[in-house]
Amino acid sequence: MSGLLLGASGQVGHELHKALAIHLDLHAPDRRTLDLTDLDAVKRCLDHYRPQWVINAAAYTAVDQAETDTATAFRLNAELPGCLARYCADHGALLTHYSSDYVYPGDGIRPWTEDSPTDPLSCYGQSKLAGDEAVLASRCDAQIFRTSWVYSARGNNFMKTMLRLGRERASLAIVDDQVGAPTPARLIADVTLHAWQVYRSRPELTGLYHLAPRGFVSWYDFAREIFRLARLHGLPLMLCDDQLSRLATKDYPTPAKRPPNSRLSVSRLENAFDISLPDWRRQLSLTMKDYLR
Ligand SMILES: NC(=O)c1ccc[n+]([C@@H]2O[C@H](COP(=O)([O-])OP(=O)(O)OC[C@H]3O[C@@H](n4cnc5c(N)ncnc54)[C@H](OP(=O)(O)O)[C@@H]3O)[C@@H](O)[C@H]2O)c1
Repeated sequence: MSGLLLGASGQVGHELHKALAIHLDLHAPDRRTLDLTDLDAVKRCLDHYRPQWVINAAAYTAVDQAETDTATAFRLNAELPGCLARYCADHGALLTHYSSDYVYPGDGIRPWTEDSPTDPLSCYGQSKLAGDEAVLASRCDAQIFRTSWVYSARGNNFMKTMLRLGRERASLAIVDDQVGAPTPARLIADVTLHAWQVYRSRPELTGLYHLAPRGFVSWYDFAREIFRLARLHGLPLMLCDDQLSRLATKDYPTPAKRPPNSRLSVSRLENAFDISLPDWRRQLSLTMKDYLR
């Protein structure tokens, strides 16, 4: 079986490449070979490789920059998945695509389900929602995984930023009124592989699924746990335990508005694919060990 993986240099793409390469004839062009804002080049690439499975881990993920560079965000996050979905619909291929908690309005405290109304607060969220809608409208076989707070041993992410700041600063204030589930890229790759394997014998298992670990945490408490594990592993930190303080979102203005409530219900994914998602805390410990190796 042939596969085309886009965004293999990203957090999720890198883990996908590791997880999938032994299972299929996988092509993973990088940005130098294929600029994904050039949709004619993308179509030529699809015609050339004729993949039976297209995995799209590429995205415009600079959330604040998307407020001003909106056209590029929509090209990458909305038009690109639409183009991939049309190919998959025309050729009977499967599309795996990733989306975001930022498609929801972020109010309240209840976990969002896949049927909750969407209402993004930012241009990034709007572009991701437009991508999901384009994929669903194409009626191709697609598995769309909406995930949250992605981090990994490589790439730019909250865990690595905290470890750097903890080494450089004696005190830190972290936002405490945004809640979600930090999701390791490796978990996303493992679940993607499992979902594809199940799909091969049960092709009705397409559609929209939330993919995140179980449990919820604020950025502040996530940071606390990162520093606790860092100390446990003997990492030298300048930051003292009592010098981590709570910050309100209103006191940390950013160009793009963030959803206070990023809780995602993962029951649909667990029931459909017969899995139990692990707790976010255990996943952090594993990812930290990965990082330290
Ligand atoms: N990060 C999060 O917190 C988060 C949260 C929820 C959902 N998600 C979703 O999860 C998915 C994976 O996110 P991620 O964190 O792994 O993203 P990432 O690390 O930012 O990786 C993005 C990938 O897209 C590629 N890319 C971007 N523009 C390109 C272009 N013009 N041409 C070719 N390649 C291009 C990047 O290539 P280069 O390396 O060359 O730039 C990189 O491989 C995305 O759909 C994202 O929306 C992410």
